[in-house]
Amino acid sequence: MYRILIILLILIPVKAHTQNNKSGEDAKGIFKYENFQKPDECGSSCHTDFYSQWKQMMMSQCYTHEWDEIEYFKLAIPHAEKEPRVAGVKDGCNGCHAPASFMSGDLPPPKPEANSRANESVSCDVCHSVTGFTGDTPYNFNFISNPGAVKYGNRGGTESPAHETRKNPLLSKAEFCGTCHNEKSPFGAWVKATHLEWKEGPYSKEGVQCQNCHMPRTPGISSAMGVHREDIAQHLFHGAHDPGKVRGTVELRVHPDMQEIVPGEPAKFTVVLFNQKTGHKFPTGSAEERMLWLHVEAKDAKGNIYHLKVDLKGFKGEEFTIASDTLAYQDMGVPLAINNFKGIRRDGVPLGDRIFRMPYLDPQGRMTIQQWNTASFAVDYRFGPRETKTETFTWLVPDEIELGKLTVRAVLNYQKLPTPVAEYLGVPNEEAEIIEVNSHSTSVEVVED
Ligand code: HEC
Ligand code: HEC
Ligand code: HEC
Ligand code: HEC
Repeated sequence: MYRILIILLILIPVKAHTQNNKSGEDAKGIFKYENFQKPDECGSSCHTDFYSQWKQMMMSQCYTHEWDEIEYFKLAIPHAEKEPRVAGVKDGCNGCHAPASFMSGDLPPPKPEANSRANESVSCDVCHSVTGFTGDTPYNFNFISNPGAVKYGNRGGTESPAHETRKNPLLSKAEFCGTCHNEKSPFGAWVKATHLEWKEGPYSKEGVQCQNCHMPRTPGISSAMGVHREDIAQHLFHGAHDPGKVRGTVELRVHPDMQEIVPGEPAKFTVVLFNQKTGHKFPTGSAEERMLWLHVEAKDAKGNIYHLKVDLKGFKGEEFTIASDTLAYQDMGVPLAINNFKGIRRDGVPLGDRIFRMPYLDPQGRMTIQQWNTASFAVDYRFGPRETKTETFTWLVPDEIELGKLTVRAVLNYQKLPTPVAEYLGVPNEEAEIIEVNSHSTSVEVVED
């Protein structure tokens, strides 16, 4: 009895003071759920505002969000069980989507309907226990977690009756976000690279971090008992699921090459598009499923509508950036247990429109939305931060067109998931909602020869 007590007395302090330095795959099952505080404990009486904000951000829903549930349980798990090369994702998805479950070894976690602790997704304590990351490049959940009495944040030495606080400058840096927002597939492809895109772009050079755009600061308090400060970091994290964040990301103008056009002769319209808003590429992150396309239409004096198709530029992989009715996503046949799966429509947007995307290719070179099954990319035709792209539309003006004013409208549309994929997998409609990023119209006169 005494001996057990003595051993316990020796072990307890040692355990409490041992700093964990494992991260990523190595951190699987090293903790227990009890090591992580529940978000409602942080939020019920102290951090009430941040708790309400957290509830509304996507990171509180990484595990419960319906599309995540479908992709994980219908595609990723069965795929991992059938294809040894991707076996690691059965547990690995949770490293970012349900980190406390991963670090507690609750794998795979029960489905969201079981209402287990996996549903906490990326909780307060997951982020505020991070003490560092392994190596030089943040990716594949290589953050180092030390849950416990100390909470790490952007300020040190603040008074809290509930826990100690310690400053960790990493939390104010893009690298912190990169631990989950960069992802390398089992085939070595960078299937998420939001932090890497930021790093090679202009904002990193100017010291603008992810937090500046996604956690804006405003005067207030950060907890019920906290002191008033001028610059409290808000936990908003607006992203692709906030139409307002996406709208206006790219500005565009369309102009004609001549003020008067003639039936039976070609006319050319030029669209210039400028990415004024993102600190990374647009689209970024889950780029395997983001649709961003430019649609141009002309309307004559009688109201007849003509669809203009984009001019080809001739770069490698361009066929993936022109909307077509080809089939794709055949690799879903493996998890869905369909032999010789023909695939489903690739784009679901008007044929001939320009799509700004980075097509993900499976090991057989077919386009995929299973980012874990990605071996290469066909081309990267997305907008870099502050990049401007130009598209032209050369159009043979139809003989039967009405004379008089012709209005040409260019619209840049955005969708989180291609409609054919959403419909096929039964993903809720709002994931395929079409958002108008921006539009502009110009007009010319149609005159007789
Ligand atoms: C200059 C402002 C700015 C900076 C800096 C910035 N972002 Fe963004 N971010 C945006 C805007 C605007 C959008 C909305 C357009 C879009 O979806 O890309 C966005 C979208 C996102 C999205 C949603 C993408 C999607 O398709 O789901 C994520 C995730 C994101 N940002 C993470 C980050 C991370 C991580 C960093 C730092 C490495 C960062 N952002 C830096 C402005 C910024
Ligand atoms: C995705 C990671 C993440 C989650 C989840 C998260 N936080 Fe934070 N939090 C941060 C980061 C990053 C900062 C520092 C921002 C900066 O330096 O610009 C921060 C700052 C704070 C601060 C200090 C704010 C200030 O400006 O003084 C408090 C308090 C805080 N968080 C509490 C919470 C609580 C409570 C929750 C859950 C309801 C939570 N956080 C969820 C990442 C997170
Ligand atoms: C522990 C992993 C983790 C960390 C750390 C993390 N994120 Fe996330 N983040 C995620 C996951 C997973 C999602 C996807 C949510 C979902 O399933 O739709 C996400 C979603 C987002 C979104 C919403 C995208 C959308 O579709 O609307 C934004 C914005 C975002 N994160 C920004 C950040 C920023 C900025 C930081 C750093 C301050 C950060 N994240 C740190 C894992 C993380
Ligand atoms: C390295 C961290 C990481 C891993 C591992 C990871 N994810 Fe994610 N996942 C993210 C982040 C970050 C986002 C948000 C990206 C964005 O919005 O730009 C995300 C977004 C998603 C989304 C939402 C896409 C949308 O339309 O908003 C789904 C679904 C998803 N992941 C499923 C999975 C599955 C299934 C796995 C395992 C095969 C997995 N993830 C592995 C970090 C990760």
